[in-house]
Amino acid sequence: MPAASAKATQRPMTYQDVLARDRRHPPELLGERTLDLGVEPIAASRYTSPEFFRREVEKVWLKTWQYVCREEAIPNPGDTHVFDLLNKTVIVTRQRDGSLKAMQNVCLHRGRKLVTDGGCKQQFRCPYHGFTWNTDGTFRENPFGWDFPQIDPGKFSLPQIRLETWAGFVFINFDNEATPLLEQLAPMPEHFARWRIQDCTIVAHVGKIAHANWKVCAEAFIESHHVFATHPQLNPTNGFESGQYDVLSDHVTRFMNPGGLTPSVHHEQLTEEQRIERMFAAGGRAGSRATFPPEPGMTARNYAGEVSRRNLTAETGYDFQDVCDAEMMDGMSYDFFPNFHLWGGFRDKICYRFRPLDHETTFMEVMLFRIAPKDKPKPPPAAFHMLGEEDLWSSATELGFLASVYDQDQSNMAPLQHGLKALGEGEIQFGRYLEVRCRHLHQMVDVYMAR
Ligand code: FES
Ligand SMILES: [Fe+2]
Repeated sequence: MPAASAKATQRPMTYQDVLARDRRHPPELLGERTLDLGVEPIAASRYTSPEFFRREVEKVWLKTWQYVCREEAIPNPGDTHVFDLLNKTVIVTRQRDGSLKAMQNVCLHRGRKLVTDGGCKQQFRCPYHGFTWNTDGTFRENPFGWDFPQIDPGKFSLPQIRLETWAGFVFINFDNEATPLLEQLAPMPEHFARWRIQDCTIVAHVGKIAHANWKVCAEAFIESHHVFATHPQLNPTNGFESGQYDVLSDHVTRFMNPGGLTPSVHHEQLTEEQRIERMFAAGGRAGSRATFPPEPGMTARNYAGEVSRRNLTAETGYDFQDVCDAEMMDGMSYDFFPNFHLWGGFRDKICYRFRPLDHETTFMEVMLFRIAPKDKPKPPPAAFHMLGEEDLWSSATELGFLASVYDQDQSNMAPLQHGLKALGEGEIQFGRYLEVRCRHLHQMVDVYMAR
């Protein structure tokens, strides 16, 4: 194993040190699960080669669980969601008995895409010649049946695709041999049950095309030390040097990034009072400023944790008094391989999905999940907002303070893709700890490709 750089410095404080100073006892699930995956360089061509991407499609994208939509988006019999991934197109439809079915969205006559828009359907009728299927996928009608003696209507159903759900998230897998979803998602279901994912509703859903490989996009969100240079406005209170990076299973990694700390690389060290000022001025994850002052001796983290506990209790009607500061305010980013990212904790859960369109174009989506008020009907999910090529993320005001953060993130993507192409057969470097999730992503791609 190569020796660490002589310039490497000790991290100032670990995340576990930070937790130990919080006002409430942290749950065991915040424990450390570090893995050392080494420091080998990464070939730049993994992001740029059309041939590498072709193998990823075959070996990774068509073999892994893909998040499709939320169950509440298709509540009634016949409600249909169209899901496109690369050259595949799928319809997911609510059945009369309340179950869900996923089917190949292709007319079995001459191959037209059967359904182009979602919505509530009585049947699936191909617009080209009128071949029609029932919403359970069984064949209903061919207007010219007399001319198709080769078709047995009883055997002309739309091919079904594997579908499984977790906490209202609908996933499909094109591979019938894949491990069951819940088994592969572990330990996310346990962690997110604590964080009331089942009580959340989508309050924002925004998408935009990025001109970069899907891994470039995903990697922009699985480490937090890029805050230092990319999001300098967050530096005064973003303790990214004390973040914790965990590999929780083959398919699940996470970081936890503490709020309310000033990293040592920030030029200006702040008092706790100054940090409190900056935190609430920035409008971050702790929520809106409270009307009560900090108690003597409270750190900025303790204060933001307390403000957040009280605010969220008032907003939702649930009791958060025993919840630790970290779960009220820290960034807790989980990634389910290959492209489903969900933030934990009790505040707004950010969800990212990165769908490749080709080797250097990615459809990027951000969703925000918020705990809905107790004892009230759940509000319907927010409508999808697609940004155009020229639209900035900051025009999506439903994303709050995050919107302009995403403009900063996206400003790296196309230049990164360009730089990787310029490297040709060259290599790039990942840090041993802070970028372990990036390295893990590549190792999982390799695992699938070797199958
Ligand atoms: S292609 Fe669908 S009915 Fe002809
Ligand atoms: Fe970022």
